[in-house]
Amino acid sequence: MEILVTGGAGFIGSNFVHYLTDRTDAHVTVLDALTYAGNRESLAAIPDHRLTFVHGDVADAGLVAELAGAADAVVHFAAESHNDNSLANPRPFVDTNLIGTFTLLEAARRTGVRYHHISTDEVYGDLELNDPQRFDESTAYNPSSPYSATKAGSDLLVRAWIRSFGVAGTISNCSNNYGPYQHIEKFIPRQITNVLAGLRPKLYGSGANVRDWIHAEDHSSAVWTILQHGRIGETYLIGADGERSNRDVLSLILTLMGEAPDAFDHVADRPGHDLRYAIDSTKLRTELGWAPRYRDFEAGLAATIDWYRQHERWWRDTKAKTEAFYSARGQ
Ligand code: NAD
Ligand code: TYD
Repeated sequence: MEILVTGGAGFIGSNFVHYLTDRTDAHVTVLDALTYAGNRESLAAIPDHRLTFVHGDVADAGLVAELAGAADAVVHFAAESHNDNSLANPRPFVDTNLIGTFTLLEAARRTGVRYHHISTDEVYGDLELNDPQRFDESTAYNPSSPYSATKAGSDLLVRAWIRSFGVAGTISNCSNNYGPYQHIEKFIPRQITNVLAGLRPKLYGSGANVRDWIHAEDHSSAVWTILQHGRIGETYLIGADGERSNRDVLSLILTLMGEAPDAFDHVADRPGHDLRYAIDSTKLRTELGWAPRYRDFEAGLAATIDWYRQHERWWRDTKAKTEAFYSARGQ
């Protein structure tokens, strides 16, 4: 089986490529533009005969048509993925998340290739802290940021291409991922690398905001399950019942790293900051029999801290630039 993975040099895409090459016989072609978020090193351990790397843009129609035509399935991870960047400069989010997805869908329409679209629970907006409801497949779209709005738009393009043009597509919307190879602009690796670099961790606002954490390997196993057994045209929500406040996660990181649990700074809140995300993944679990393997968040977080400790070369060069971006925003 030949699988085209877009964005395979990014955080979740590279975890998925490792998952496929470790656990299946599939040959993988990665299409990745190597933006600031892509890192070829994340795929360095994969043997040459299992992986072809193509440096290119998902909005390049000719290239995408050629690669899609040679694949049995396309899994589309490539995106501009960081909310704070989307507030500073939304344009690349429109280009990659909307035009890039449109370009892949046109290729899927012409070639008939099986298409799986990776999306986020952020398309649903946010929940109150005490809301007993969680997001499920019937929740209305209500995105807050330029990032989540462009992801929501891309999901709707996929639905239209499935219905109007018969594209053999599925969609998954997953909660916040953690694990190895995550860019250090994101919450968990930013705080871990702050401690490792001798900087104080930074908490937005009060830190009461809740995210629903899932290990990236569990996201990969869910996507592979959907690719093999999902019903065409369906959307599946992926989550591991991992709700925690940012303040709790940060205190846990500090404790696991041998620091005082309150050794952090409160910084400016994110404009439009979503309060809470929470996923009900009953459909995926009952229909397709999927279950997460990482059920102990503390153990998964400790392993992730260890990974950043042992892979300083992977992140060190990007630290100063990442922190300069934040400090200019008072964060
Ligand atoms: P990331 O920013 O770590 O990686 C994105 C990758 O896409 C990078 O390798 C980058 O070089 C590549 N890319 C960007 N623009 C491109 C373009 N125009 N053409 C080709 N490649 C391009 O992102 P991530 O956190 O791994 O997220 C991957 C996908 O998962 C995204 O679609 C995101 O919306 C979704 N998602 C992420 C999370 C999360 O917690 N990070 C949760 C749910 C869903
Ligand atoms: P992030 O990793 O950017 O993911 P998302 O915005 O997709 O949820 O942020 C996770 C949460 O952590 C979010 O509520 C914002 C917060 N946050 C901080 O408190 N401090 C930080 O330095 C960062 C980057 C995020």
